[in-house]
Amino acid sequence: MTQDELKALVGQAALQYVTPGEIVGVGTGSTVNKFIDALASIKDQIAGAVSSSEASTVRLKALGIPVFEANAVGELSVYIDGADEIDASGHMVKGGGAALTREKIVAAQSRRFVCIADESKLVKALGAFPLPVEVIPMATARLVRQFAALGGHASVRVKDGAPLVTDNGQHILDVTGLHITDPLAFESEVNQWPGVVTVGVFAHQKAHVCLLGTPSGVKTLTF
Ligand code: 5RP
Repeated sequence: MTQDELKALVGQAALQYVTPGEIVGVGTGSTVNKFIDALASIKDQIAGAVSSSEASTVRLKALGIPVFEANAVGELSVYIDGADEIDASGHMVKGGGAALTREKIVAAQSRRFVCIADESKLVKALGAFPLPVEVIPMATARLVRQFAALGGHASVRVKDGAPLVTDNGQHILDVTGLHITDPLAFESEVNQWPGVVTVGVFAHQKAHVCLLGTPSGVKTLTF
């Protein structure tokens, strides 16, 4: 099975976590795109979605799924999103699609986080994938030095020859060389550095369930 087929498999499987009549929290990325496509097949049974990015909003609307502002709705029962890495406790690294801040906001607004991923995303320890961090541009140089003090190497994410600008008008640092042994403590520490908007470690907003796509089918991990 190709990676694309594994993503489609978990995207479809995630429908079982969608409660009829409710608004669904929707993440961002190529795996979530498969989920959005599957969600379109039951769009008449849901009230709509809260989206974590402009990209997902465009896809949801194109498929006829109403999109609500996060501020216009209360707590959501479920948030469905992908991950760049997930460990055996449900801690994740996210932000490969630069949507980490809104993803964390919608995850925090939801009772249950269902992660959908192909099996390549399951890791023993977080940190091999370059850690995305959304930052205020004027703090970039100092934050690069702060990550260097932890043994990391941070570089500004570039798109089309210029720093990538997120949906929130900020930049992304991708940090390699980190050893994240305590994801909760790491997230708390980095998140309070001035200039950090959001660090891409999701330990406080970890997954409750992970639907992992494997060649033998969908494996469900609960945390
Ligand atoms: C976007 C994310 C995505 O969930 C993560 O990058 C995984 O994406 P994909 O499903 O394309 O592998 O955090 O900011």
